[in-house]
Amino acid sequence: MLAAASMEDEKTKSWKKLVNVSVSGAAGMISNHLLFKLASGEVFGQDQPIALKLLGSERSLQALEGVAMELEDSLYPLLREVSIGIDPYVIFEDADWALLIGAKPRGPGVERAALLDINGQIFAEQGKALNAVASRNVKVIVVGNPCNTNALICLKNAPNLPAKNFHALTRLDENRAKCQLALKAGVFYDKISNMTIWGNHSTTQVPDFLNAKINGRPVKEVIKDTKWLEEDFTITVQKRGGVLIQKWGRSSAASTAVSIVDAMRSLVTPTPEGDWFSTGVYTTGNPYGIAEDIVFSMPCRSKGDGDYELVKDVAMDDFLWGRIKKSEAELIAEKRCVAHLTGEGNAFCDLPGDTMLPGEM
Ligand code: LMR
Repeated sequence: MLAAASMEDEKTKSWKKLVNVSVSGAAGMISNHLLFKLASGEVFGQDQPIALKLLGSERSLQALEGVAMELEDSLYPLLREVSIGIDPYVIFEDADWALLIGAKPRGPGVERAALLDINGQIFAEQGKALNAVASRNVKVIVVGNPCNTNALICLKNAPNLPAKNFHALTRLDENRAKCQLALKAGVFYDKISNMTIWGNHSTTQVPDFLNAKINGRPVKEVIKDTKWLEEDFTITVQKRGGVLIQKWGRSSAASTAVSIVDAMRSLVTPTPEGDWFSTGVYTTGNPYGIAEDIVFSMPCRSKGDGDYELVKDVAMDDFLWGRIKKSEAELIAEKRCVAHLTGEGNAFCDLPGDTMLPGEM
């Protein structure tokens, strides 16, 4: 019996090399949905064993033990190892994927600049740790807000890793935009394609209805109500996170976990012909004329090898470009606020007054 079990074990191990997935904020609500999806094979498929390495804080360590117990008790055949800890230099060791979820939420009376600084410190530290111990081709997805600028801080502190491998999660916004278009057009969600979220994961983000398609047709041919597209649709997507916090009393968790799975799957499976997905990536040599050296959400395609290319042939009009410039300005201002964390001198914080984190209303 034992021999048979260990032979089976060997067979499982021989399927594919173990993938190491490190997750920060692992005792939190998003992770509580995400980890079980990862362990069940939703991202990497049913023949890919994985190890989960869970990062918490001193305060959350006991809860993290509980998370590990539940994962073990679920008997996932693909889950070969679960480890927990509070030292990123240990938990990120050999990481093939780093899902950086843990961040301080903005509490009452905390200025945005202060939050950028508090969370920025976390991501600077984690960037250094990834730089030191992660796989040289680690893919990093930053979820903790403000995720674009946190991703920028993280990659600047990891100079030995490819900047291209750092992502800020805007897939949740893409999913929200697809949902709104599908509801308005009376079609099922999977009929919406080519949905780009441009810019920052904040209320300046730009859901692009110029290039998106419904049943393969331009959105504007199907939904003729331009006022709805420019106002209701755009604002609903931009403010969805905040409205959800008002209703739930906490940030989105299940849908964020789903969107992390979607974002990862988009990188490990070939993008369907003609379609694309959105992710916040480092702007270096982008074909659109967006400022360099920030993390900006743009349309991407992947061959399924974990890498991606920017989509070049997208249409632009004055409305879209004007909105993109506003989100770009916000990210440049955020970047100035964290100059002390990116090695670019003294910080100077002059954030535009009307810009908000997704959760702010
Ligand atoms: C969301 O978009 O749901 C979250 O990023 C909101 C937040 O601020 O936590």
